[in-house]
Amino acid sequence: MPTKTILVTGSSGLIGSEAVEHFDRQGHEVHGIDNNMRAVFFGDQGDTTWNLERLRRLTKNFTHHNLDIRDRIALETLFHSHSFDLIIHCAAQPSHDKARDIPILDFEVNALGTVNLLEATRLHCPKAVFVFLSTNKVYGDAPNEVPLRELETRWEYQRPEDYNGIDENCRIDRSLHSLFGASKASADLMAQEYGRYFGMNVGIFRGGCLTGPSHSGVELHGFLSYLVKVAVTGGTYSVFGYKAKQVRDNIHSHDVVRAIEEFAANPRPGEVYNLGGSRKNSISVLEAIAKAEQLTGRKMNWKYVEQNRIGDHICYISDLTKFKSHYPNWKITIDLDEIFRQILADQCLRSNDVRREPSQAGHT
Ligand SMILES: NC(=O)c1ccc[n+]([C@@H]2O[C@H](COP(=O)([O-])OP(=O)(O)OC[C@H]3O[C@@H](n4cnc5c(N)ncnc54)[C@H](O)[C@@H]3O)[C@@H](O)[C@H]2O)c1
Repeated sequence: MPTKTILVTGSSGLIGSEAVEHFDRQGHEVHGIDNNMRAVFFGDQGDTTWNLERLRRLTKNFTHHNLDIRDRIALETLFHSHSFDLIIHCAAQPSHDKARDIPILDFEVNALGTVNLLEATRLHCPKAVFVFLSTNKVYGDAPNEVPLRELETRWEYQRPEDYNGIDENCRIDRSLHSLFGASKASADLMAQEYGRYFGMNVGIFRGGCLTGPSHSGVELHGFLSYLVKVAVTGGTYSVFGYKAKQVRDNIHSHDVVRAIEEFAANPRPGEVYNLGGSRKNSISVLEAIAKAEQLTGRKMNWKYVEQNRIGDHICYISDLTKFKSHYPNWKITIDLDEIFRQILADQCLRSNDVRREPSQAGHT
C-alpha cells in the first residue's frame, strides 16, 4: 500500500509491537500509544519497557506517545495533529481473571477507551480503517455448550459438524463472560455500531490465544508465553480444572498482523471475524506441558487445581472460514512447533537478560 500514517494502541504489547515492526518495515509512518499499564495490571513481570526499547532500536519511523486511552483530551490533541489512515487498537486490560479485582478500571480501559478512540476517529479521520482486537470471551461460556468427548490428553468436539470450531454465529449474550468478557463485548458492540451505523471502516477480530515471543507473559495472561517461561526459569505452573485437557488455539502475532493488513486493504464496515490458530494450531494444557518438557529436556513443575477458572472455555477452536472466504490471500503461516521454538528461544535469551534483536523477531 502507499505510505500511510498508522496509529497502533497498546504498541508495547504483543500484537501492538508486532504491528509497529511490520508496518515500519514497509516504510509507513507509525505512531504508538502505550503507557505501560500492563505493569500496573500485572506488576514487574508484565512490564513492557523492554519491548518499547526494542522497538526504538529496530524502527525507522516510529513515534511513541506515552498516553492513556482513557484520556479523551490527550487523544483529541493527538488526532488533531495527525491524520491517521489506519488505527489498530490493541491497548487493553487483557485478563479474564484480573478484571474481577478491578471492575471499574477494566471497564474504563476496555469499553470507554475503545469508544474514545472510535469517536476520535469519527471526528478527525472518518475514512480511516479502524481495527479492534476483540476476544472470544465475548461469547462467554456459550462455546462450552458444544457437545464434547474426552480423549486421553484433550477435550474434543463430539459432532463432525463442529470439527472446525466456533464460528461468528455463536451467541454473545445469556452466558457467563467474566467482567473482562463483558467489557470487551461492550467495546465489540460499539465498534460494530461505528461500522454499521456510521458506515465507518471498522473491523472486529475476536481473538483465540494470540501469542509470540513479544509477550510479557504472566500467570494471568499469555498462555504459551507464561507456560514456556515457567518451563525455562523454574517455578510451578498451575492448571485450573477440566482435567488439564482444556484446548486452546494459538496464532502467532505475525499472522494476526497479516490479517489486519488484509482487512485494511479491503475493509468491510462493521464485520466481525473469529481469529485464532484454528484446529491446526490447537493444543491442550497437558499437551503443551509435554511439548515444553520435550523441548527443554526437563520435567516441568506443575500442580492441578480442581476448580476451573470461572467461565473458562473447555475446548475453543476458532473457525476461520468466514475470514478466509473474505480474504483468500491470508493463511496461517506459523505452525505450533515454530511458535514454541520462537517463544523458547526468546525465553532463554531473556532469562540470560539478553534482549532480542531483529534476527529473532516474531516473524518468518
Ligand atoms: N493475547 C491474547 O491471547 C489475546 C486473546 C484475545 C484477545 N486479545 C486482545 O488483543 C489485544 C492485544 O492483546 P495483547 O496480548 O497484545 O495484550 P498486551 O497486554 O500484550 O498489550 C496491551 C498493551 O496495552 C497497553 N495498555 C493497557 N491499557 C492502556 C491504556 N489505558 N492506555 C494506553 N496503553 C494501555 C499495555 O501497557 C500493553 O502494552 C487486546 O485487546 C486483547 O484483549 C488478546
